[in-house]
Amino acid sequence: MKITFYCRLVKLLNVSAVLVLSVLLLLSRIRFRRHLPKPSPIPAQDYRLISPETYKYILNQPAACKHRSPLLVLMVPVSPGERTAREAIRKTWGAPGSNTLTMFYVGLPEEGPTSHLQDSLGKESQQHGDIIQMDFLDSYHNLTIKTMMIMNWLATYCPTASYAMKVDADVFVNVFHLIRQLSGSPRQGYITGSVIADGRPRRDSNSKWHLSQDLYPQDSFPPYLSGAGYVFSTDLAERISGASRFVRMIPLEDVYVGLCLRVLGVQPTYSQSLLTLTNLFEIQKLEYERCTFAKRVIVTGFKPAELLLIWQDFSQGHLSC
Ligand SMILES: *[C@@H]1O[C@H](CO)[C@@H](O)[C@H](O)[C@H]1NC(C)=O
Repeated sequence: MKITFYCRLVKLLNVSAVLVLSVLLLLSRIRFRRHLPKPSPIPAQDYRLISPETYKYILNQPAACKHRSPLLVLMVPVSPGERTAREAIRKTWGAPGSNTLTMFYVGLPEEGPTSHLQDSLGKESQQHGDIIQMDFLDSYHNLTIKTMMIMNWLATYCPTASYAMKVDADVFVNVFHLIRQLSGSPRQGYITGSVIADGRPRRDSNSKWHLSQDLYPQDSFPPYLSGAGYVFSTDLAERISGASRFVRMIPLEDVYVGLCLRVLGVQPTYSQSLLTLTNLFEIQKLEYERCTFAKRVIVTGFKPAELLLIWQDFSQGHLSC
């Protein structure tokens, strides 16, 4: 008698716990939804600036994914003159692999489309087949345009890839660890990296990250991923492009992607090791140590020569960590 009573009591408690949890979960979703601003399209002349239809491809690799579906596309924004960085990446984490594809994204050199630099870029493109160029001026302030071009390129020419990573040229990428991580990751609506949850616009006009009240009146940013390197499921490329119709351009490309994610209601996922809580996307300089790096996905702040040097040791020794 007593035992069945206790059994029932335990069952009842279990059921109520599940009920309470579901209600809480539902409430948190509703609250999150309520915070979404009702999106309205931005004026046409503002959208023109970031719309990929405004620009045309000068160099392209439209068949890059025609006969293959890479697990991971590594997409690297670089300036036209950063040839040594591209060369280092081709020999290290961006080396051709069976499940990865590496592409470099550039705008027009300041010297113009008939410059010597443009010539050598064309030759480099012929030799390696990994350069995508559009005809907007390649400048720091135009990085947001470049990021939208990257999203558009992926959605147009490589939509069958599973994941993509936008990663800066001065970053060490542990592709081995990243590929392992991806095998258990969501296939859709997924974006991960170093999440910045408490970002605010800088109003001082001397700051590199200055943002005027005019361009961005709110006094905080939604959660966004540090632009040094973030990884996402390929479906998001088209969705982020679509969301850009509702988000006025600001010259901070990583915050801009965060604003698009908010329109979509997609929340960035933190990337931490469960055991040690270390951030897998290390966005500060870290002294090279093979087994420390083996547990990270990215570490930032490397010159091309440094990348080449540590890669030799890392690629040979990381499995013994
Ligand atoms: C961005 O690119 C456009 C198109 O080439 C150009 O007109 C504009 O001056 C560039 N902006 C900056 C700040 O470099």
